[in-house]
Amino acid sequence: MHRFKTVSDIRIEPGGTSRLDAHVRDLPRNKRIAIVTDKGVRALGLMDAGIAALQDSGYDVMIFDEVVADPPEDVVIAGAKAVKRFDAGMVIGFGGGSPMDTAKLIAFLADNDVTLSEIYGVDVAQGSRLPLLLMPTTSGTGSEVTNVAIITAGPDSHNKGSKNAVVSDPLYADRVLLDANLTLGLPAHITAATGIDAMVHAIEAYTSVHRKNPISDAIGLSALRKLSRAIGRAVNVPDDVEARNDMLIGAMLAGQAFSNAPVGAIHGLAYPLGGFFHVPHGLSNSLVMVEVMKFNAQEDRAKQWYGEIASDLCVGTSASALIDEILRLQDETRVQRRLRDVDIAADAIPMMADDAILKDRVLRNNPRAMTRDDIVRIYETIA
Ligand SMILES: NC(=O)c1ccc[n+]([C@@H]2O[C@H](COP(=O)([O-])OP(=O)(O)OC[C@H]3O[C@@H](n4cnc5c(N)ncnc54)[C@H](O)[C@@H]3O)[C@@H](O)[C@H]2O)c1
Ligand SMILES: [Fe+2]
Repeated sequence: MHRFKTVSDIRIEPGGTSRLDAHVRDLPRNKRIAIVTDKGVRALGLMDAGIAALQDSGYDVMIFDEVVADPPEDVVIAGAKAVKRFDAGMVIGFGGGSPMDTAKLIAFLADNDVTLSEIYGVDVAQGSRLPLLLMPTTSGTGSEVTNVAIITAGPDSHNKGSKNAVVSDPLYADRVLLDANLTLGLPAHITAATGIDAMVHAIEAYTSVHRKNPISDAIGLSALRKLSRAIGRAVNVPDDVEARNDMLIGAMLAGQAFSNAPVGAIHGLAYPLGGFFHVPHGLSNSLVMVEVMKFNAQEDRAKQWYGEIASDLCVGTSASALIDEILRLQDETRVQRRLRDVDIAADAIPMMADDAILKDRVLRNNPRAMTRDDIVRIYETIA
């Protein structure tokens, strides 16, 4: 049996933010809307036209901009309290994966009498949530169409901690608005890293052993075609709206694919880099992906699946052809290659391996089983 779920209302409109009042229509429970974002995104003014459109239509708008990258637990808890106090009738998550993940949890927690620590895990969060619109400003996580929120947990979660996930269908948004104009100013290194994150989503969905399915396969391949053709232009010609739109659509499609066929060991080995060292999520994936793929390709199923992806991208027919294409794209987008490039010393490897091996939620989807020793060897190869 295969099952595929996604957000049912996805709108693609470069410049659509200025018509935000039209895009929220029929969603809010009252005339108060809470926008969840981060200070960086807010300072860029990307939301200003949207806020004006809402206010002109008679909405009271509250902005919660306390989100930081790899959102810590207390930010989510504070956001849910503030949104409840404001008596918001709707939440808009506006930004990269961090604000969107935070918005999903705020919308859920503000409408339920449970605590964040009670809803970690798969299918644990059950119940209603405030109406939710998500608007990505990076082309990477696909969070706008997933039922996943990733939070940094632990007593010192602002500095370092382990990444925990809430994965449950109430986190699927009601509506998504993809406005490529929002991504025009995304700096080259963030465009590159977040774009590679999206490519990893599509590749890991295609090789997801338990829930690989024909719809995720088709969508994942389509995502990879768009992303691999657009990423070089989006990084090197920043105001190419067509490339930006393709990246945004590609990232969303990859999100649909992996929301139904979950990611594997590339993400598993990437999480400790973000949790302990604040390496951006996409860059963490990029750093570990080639070595994890080489490890996986020693297993027949993965070798075949990587070959199928290579054929679809017209770069060859083998796993090594796909790996060569990834290396070419990493060159073209100038992403860093080694742990030392992001200031992670080799003596951190045992601690990272101890954390990665606990990520059974993702490791179990990987096409080849991985031991702690395998993980240590992979980290050592990229040290
Ligand atoms: N929910 C999911 O399905 C899912 C999937 C993958 C990753 N994630 C999570 O998402 C988070 C990473 O998200 P991300 O990679 O999108 O980054 P992010 O949201 O952490 O943002 C990174 C930086 O980019 C800036 N930024 C965002 N949009 C910009 C723009 N248009 N122009 C200029 N700067 C901009 C932000 O201010 C921030 O400083 C991590 O916490 C990761 O674990 C979630
Ligand atoms: Fe990711």
